[in-house]
Amino acid sequence: MATILAIGIATIDIINHVSQFPAEDDEVRAISQFITRGGNATNTLVVLSQLGHRCHWSGVLIDEPDSLVVKKDLDQHQIDYSSCLRLNTGKMPTSYITLNEANASRTIVHHRDCPELPFAHFKHLDIATFDWIHFEGRNVEELEKMLHWLRQHHPDIPCSLEVEKQRTGIEALFHLVDVLMFSRPYAKSQGFENAADFLQAQTAPGLMSCTWGEQGAWLHNGKEIIHSPAFPPERVVDTLGAGDTFNAGLISALVNKDSPEQALHSACQLAGQKCGQFGFDNLSS
Ligand code: FRU
Repeated sequence: MATILAIGIATIDIINHVSQFPAEDDEVRAISQFITRGGNATNTLVVLSQLGHRCHWSGVLIDEPDSLVVKKDLDQHQIDYSSCLRLNTGKMPTSYITLNEANASRTIVHHRDCPELPFAHFKHLDIATFDWIHFEGRNVEELEKMLHWLRQHHPDIPCSLEVEKQRTGIEALFHLVDVLMFSRPYAKSQGFENAADFLQAQTAPGLMSCTWGEQGAWLHNGKEIIHSPAFPPERVVDTLGAGDTFNAGLISALVNKDSPEQALHSACQLAGQKCGQFGFDNLSS
């Protein structure tokens, strides 16, 4: 069991299940609606906590009525959020998600009126107490300061960075972390049509993964590129947060000192399991 800190966001996810994706300017009725906590970093922590790790989240928590959804879910999963920056103005980031029953796609419209976590807050955290630190690749300027500071003051604490979207300057962070977790949309934004070619073109020194949906995931272990197939469930019902779940599986295996091959395999298995169910509960085995 490890003590893991994740830096990133928590959101309110308003999820409408529909039987098929609506056309523009259509008016359709949702089959059902769920309002839950989401956000890449906290999704990853909720899975890590079920895998037996002690989990801490540091991000921005706005004191407004909707944040109750976030706090309740984090409490239920024993995630410590005492190191969050608490603000009393603004709004928790909110995602309006259309989950299509026909193919399990998730279409997200995201709204933010919430600042990003600043370096000034991060540098006062009790970093030495963590065995692993995971960063969501968002506010690049502040993240760069955090990673430099981490490298300078705690060079032995392993850290990972999720690179899901293209953000200006994000490449400057790649050589500052031990593990890079790329998504298919990011690889495609760089002009690549497959994960192996994309990973081959990277020059960062650490481990690098790249997920590719139903084709599974690839991992550059420093010497070679290895592949694991996907483990699709009998019926794919919910792909929301499949990448966050994969990242949790990878971190858990690596912090437990599994080989990169085993880590890739178990992360793919976990992500597959997640796609066969709604939400993130019961993902412990
Ligand atoms: C899934 C997710 C959702 C959230 C959105 C934020 O990966 O974290 O829970 O609403 O992405 O971009």
